[in-house]
Amino acid sequence: MRTHRYFRWAALLCAASALAFLVSRQITLAAGQPKPLSSFDPQAKALLARMTLEEKIGQMTQPDQEFIKDRSDIEHDLLGSILSGGSSDPKEGNSLKAWADLYDRLQQHTTLTRLKIPILYGVDAVHGHNNVLGAVIFPHNIGLGCTRNPALVEKVERVTAEEVRATGIQWAFAPCVAVPQDIRWGRTYEGFSEDPEVVKALAGPAVRGFQGTDLANPLSVLACAKHFIGDGGTAFGSARKGTGLDQGDARVDEATLRRVHLQGYIEAVNAGVGSIMPSYSSWNGVKVSGNKHLLTEILKQELGFEGFLISDYNAIDQIDPDYKKAIGISINAGMDMAMVPSKYKEYEADLKQLVQEGVVPMSRIDDAVTRILRVKFAMGLMDRGRSQLTDRSLSKSFGSPEHRQVAREAVRESLVLLKNSNQTLPLKKTIARIHVGGKSADDLGNQCGGWTIDWQGKSGDITPGGTTVLAAIRKAVSGKTAITFSRDGTGAAGAAAGVVVIGETPYAEGNGDRADLKLAPEDIAAVANMKAAGIPVVVILFSGRPMILDGVLDQADAFVAAWLPGTEGEGITDVLFGDVKPKGKLSYTWPRSVAHKDDALFPLGYGLTY
Ligand code: BGC
Ligand code: BGC
Repeated sequence: MRTHRYFRWAALLCAASALAFLVSRQITLAAGQPKPLSSFDPQAKALLARMTLEEKIGQMTQPDQEFIKDRSDIEHDLLGSILSGGSSDPKEGNSLKAWADLYDRLQQHTTLTRLKIPILYGVDAVHGHNNVLGAVIFPHNIGLGCTRNPALVEKVERVTAEEVRATGIQWAFAPCVAVPQDIRWGRTYEGFSEDPEVVKALAGPAVRGFQGTDLANPLSVLACAKHFIGDGGTAFGSARKGTGLDQGDARVDEATLRRVHLQGYIEAVNAGVGSIMPSYSSWNGVKVSGNKHLLTEILKQELGFEGFLISDYNAIDQIDPDYKKAIGISINAGMDMAMVPSKYKEYEADLKQLVQEGVVPMSRIDDAVTRILRVKFAMGLMDRGRSQLTDRSLSKSFGSPEHRQVAREAVRESLVLLKNSNQTLPLKKTIARIHVGGKSADDLGNQCGGWTIDWQGKSGDITPGGTTVLAAIRKAVSGKTAITFSRDGTGAAGAAAGVVVIGETPYAEGNGDRADLKLAPEDIAAVANMKAAGIPVVVILFSGRPMILDGVLDQADAFVAAWLPGTEGEGITDVLFGDVKPKGKLSYTWPRSVAHKDDALFPLGYGLTY
């Protein structure tokens, strides 16, 4: 009797929870699935039908604001989009207000055109709204990859989107879903992982973070998955400039290209990504930006990508020495919008001629413009009842403590503990004295890396509002704890523990390619000086990739790979002092030496805790 009743209750409960599950799934499906971009075709095609060839080509054109000498070019050249490149700040200075004013000034010009189609303004918000002073700077993707936390990645990009919208801008050239296969590449840190599975798991959440479930939400930002495809698979020595890998040639068969480098795009497209940036690089000697099989057959036809393709910065120029011919090849291959920072007039004139000569069919132009207009309609840009100017009320949350808190959480979860002898970590907050050393302990620029304020990044005090490791340690410890500091690590005698922060100095594309990944002599010396004091030494490494550690790892009692964590140094002290346990797992294999890269010092997925 008892058991009988028990079973009835259990059955009832099961049915109820199954129902609840179904209902909640229904809700997440309904709320979680963005409308297909092609559902905006009726509006897009009606507008297209009213457009002249010049108006259509204008929509396919994106100059960099820094090369627009006369703002009336916006109406004369019918520009559909504008970007700010890595160092393309407003002339009035790099403040939030100056950015919003710049955006508004440019956007207002579109009201002077016949069709009044708003401009899509794009920027590299690749780890926060990183061009703008005072923005929260998040860990670069390599660190986010080590969190293995899709919900956190989505939250990070949600905050980034909100900070981007505070400047009026509606488009981020992110996420980078590269799958870097050789850590000598200077863009390794822009990729979540060398492992396609990790990239696959984080690409969709990153896109959803930017775009939300509805692009028309005023807090949504158009995402751009980049750089399609194989940017992380180029051969060492195949670089366009110099001897490295950047913009080089991926020499792999199609099965490998798909297995390794396509996974992130499959997920990004499933999440409704509205734009994708083809890569500068080549695949078996052919520039991706001119490859119809990749751009049209795989991306648009096979994966069903309904958004538009934006070429990389002057990438079309590399397809053929004859610029006009290069444009024809790229547009016919499936490129929809061209990032033509300074040569926009030449590009527009050439493309018009190519259409008149029949080299580029009108149907290709119409397809490109339909794709761009779909996105503009989906984003609510064509909604006449809605202001396209900056919502100045968003300045309140820009760089706010709430936003910094999300970054701090991302920093904590991205840290990978590689060594912890004799339970050196966590440190006690009541410890008598900590000696802090190393060139990066009090250097926000080194902590943020490339693509921060400047295109290549810069050492030093680059942006207000952040917290260096030294400052974070001072905040974390008890009132009785003494903190001493020397850049070179000397003077540590008598301290109860030492913390040395070393690593790479900022770089971005091209400049970051390296043949060897040795630590700088001053970093090795700082660790040795600290160790000479006979105290337990904690080493924190800032780097855009695993480095060759040689003797430093042996000298360290504890070793933390912190990647390029961004402005929130307190995420590091949260872990150092044991408020939060370390949980990051390597998203790249850590090699013993560059020459023997298959001889792992630490394997993919490695990471200790306490
Ligand atoms: C721009 C970058 C761009 C680079 C390309 C720089 O001047 O600021 O955004 O990626 O040129 O070469
Ligand atoms: C980079 C892209 C970037 C673009 C605009 C290029 O040089 O490869 O990642 O989005 O510049 O700054």
